[in-house]
Parts: sequence; structure tokens; C-alpha cells
Amino acid sequence: MDTTSRSGIVTGASSGIGLAVAEALRQEGFALTLVARDPAKLERAAAQLTATPGPAVHIAAGSLAEETFLEQIVEQHAAAFGALDILVNNAGVAGHRAVSDITADFLDQQLAVNLRAVILLTAKCMPLLKNAVAARNSAQVVNTASNAGKRGEATLASYSASKFGVVGFTEALHDELSTSGIRATAICPGVVDTPMADPYREDIPAATMIAPSDIAEVVRMTTRLSSTCIVPEVVLLRPTEWLQTPQ
Ligand SMILES: NC(=O)c1ccc[n+]([C@@H]2O[C@H](COP(=O)([O-])OP(=O)(O)OC[C@H]3O[C@@H](n4cnc5c(N)ncnc54)[C@H](OP(=O)(O)O)[C@@H]3O)[C@@H](O)[C@H]2O)c1
Repeated sequence: MDTTSRSGIVTGASSGIGLAVAEALRQEGFALTLVARDPAKLERAAAQLTATPGPAVHIAAGSLAEETFLEQIVEQHAAAFGALDILVNNAGVAGHRAVSDITADFLDQQLAVNLRAVILLTAKCMPLLKNAVAARNSAQVVNTASNAGKRGEATLASYSASKFGVVGFTEALHDELSTSGIRATAICPGVVDTPMADPYREDIPAATMIAPSDIAEVVRMTTRLSSTCIVPEVVLLRPTEWLQTPQ
């Protein structure tokens, strides 16, 4: 077990924002457990990261909707590192539907990954986060919420509700844990150039989308701040987001 390195768990690390965050964290010296569903995509992500010499990279493949998988992630990370310096709850799923067409399955799938897994994985990681505070005076939880978690969006009602939940959960973490050395941050980006943004590509050119590396730089920044400096929330917008559409 390597208890000397700082370490992190990044969910949704096989693609998009999570992969960019994992790359930045590894550059900052964090050994990592990468989490996603598809093992082949995860293997490719790990190979991409480890092409550059640096700290260890482990993978855990499974669905975050399954509570037993959340326990496996924590057990695996504990066996490898004994502590957890940063948990990045980033995995998410989005679905576009009119409110009148929302079904229980559609809603449950988004709540399970976007909100339930964020809360439960954080809860299960608490002993490891506390071990990091004991060893290095600091630990972090970073949750990828969304701009849709600050302003509800048409056809994204289930997703928006789940992301408002992530923002609320992050605020509660701050209120409960900040004095114990565990800092919580919610990141709320507008449209980011990842596979999740595919439904927008006809209307929004990729060149005008936020880059995954922009989110990674925000996470990197939070890891470099002094342990008494807390960034509870970061909203990242494209130039036109939140502006009124001209009548
Ligand atoms: N792209 C945007 O415009 C945007 C804007 C604001 C916020 N966000 C948020 O940013 C986060 C990352 O999204 P992204 O844009 O990087 O999307 P992405 O490229 O589609 O990546 C999603 C990641 O989540 C993983 N994932 C999905 N369902 C999972 C499950 N049940 N269990 C385990 N892993 C699962 C995927 O792995 P598999 O492929 O193996 O399932 C993948 O690694 C999400 O929370 C999203 O809501 C995105």
C-alpha cells in the first residue's frame, strides 16, 4: 500500500471532463482510481494517462447506480492508498424530454448516477477522506454539477433537478465538513465539448463550447490553494449563456 502519495478517485474518468480532470490531477502528483462503466474505455483512458511517467493509475469498472459497486471502489482505493485526498464525483448522464414525457425509468436513471451515487460515494469515502486529513491536513470533494443546476432548462427537467441536488449536497458538505479540513466544491459549467454535448452540435459550434481542460484547470487550481481557502462553487459559462434571447 502506498500511503505517501496524494491520491484521488475520479468518476466518469473514461471520457470528456473526467478524463481531462484525471490528467490534470496526475500532473499534480495524485495517484488515481479511475471509475466508469465500460472497461475497454477505461483501459484506454488509463493507457493514455500512463503513457507519461507519473503516479499509479488504477481502474474500477461498473455502474455507479449499484451500491455494491460504490463499496468496491472504496475498498479498492483503500487497499491501494489507505487514504483519499480528492474525490471527484463527475460521472453523469443527461436526457432531453418534455416534462409530459418523463417516466419513472427516465427519471430514476438520471437521479441514480447524477445525485444518489454522488451522495452515497461521498458518504462511503468519508473514512478515507478523514485519513487524508490526518496525514496531510486536507482533503477535497469536487462535484461536477452543471449550469443546469443553477438555472433550470427546458427539456432538461430531470437533469436540472438532479444537478440542483448536487449543488445543494455540496453546500451541505461545506456546512458540515469545512471545519474538519474537508473542502467541498461544486463546478457548474455550461456546454462543454464532450460526447454529452452532441445534441447541441447543430446549434453550437464546438469552437464556442467550453473545453474539458477548462474544467480540469479549475480542479487543478483548487488543489493548489492553501488548505484554509475554500472555493464552494464555480460557474463557467459560454459567452451567450444566461443572456436573454433577443425578442
Ligand atoms: N458536456 C457538457 O456540456 C456538460 C455541461 C455541464 C455539466 N456536465 C457534467 O459533466 C460530467 C461529465 O460529463 P461529460 O460531459 O464529460 O460526459 P461524457 O463524455 O459523456 O462522460 C460521462 C462519463 O460518465 C461515465 N458514466 C456514465 N454513466 C455511468 C454509470 N452509470 N456508472 C459509471 N460511470 C458512468 C461514462 O462512462 P461510460 O461511458 O463507461 O458509461 C463517462 O466516463 C457529468 O456529470 C455531466 O452532467 C457536462
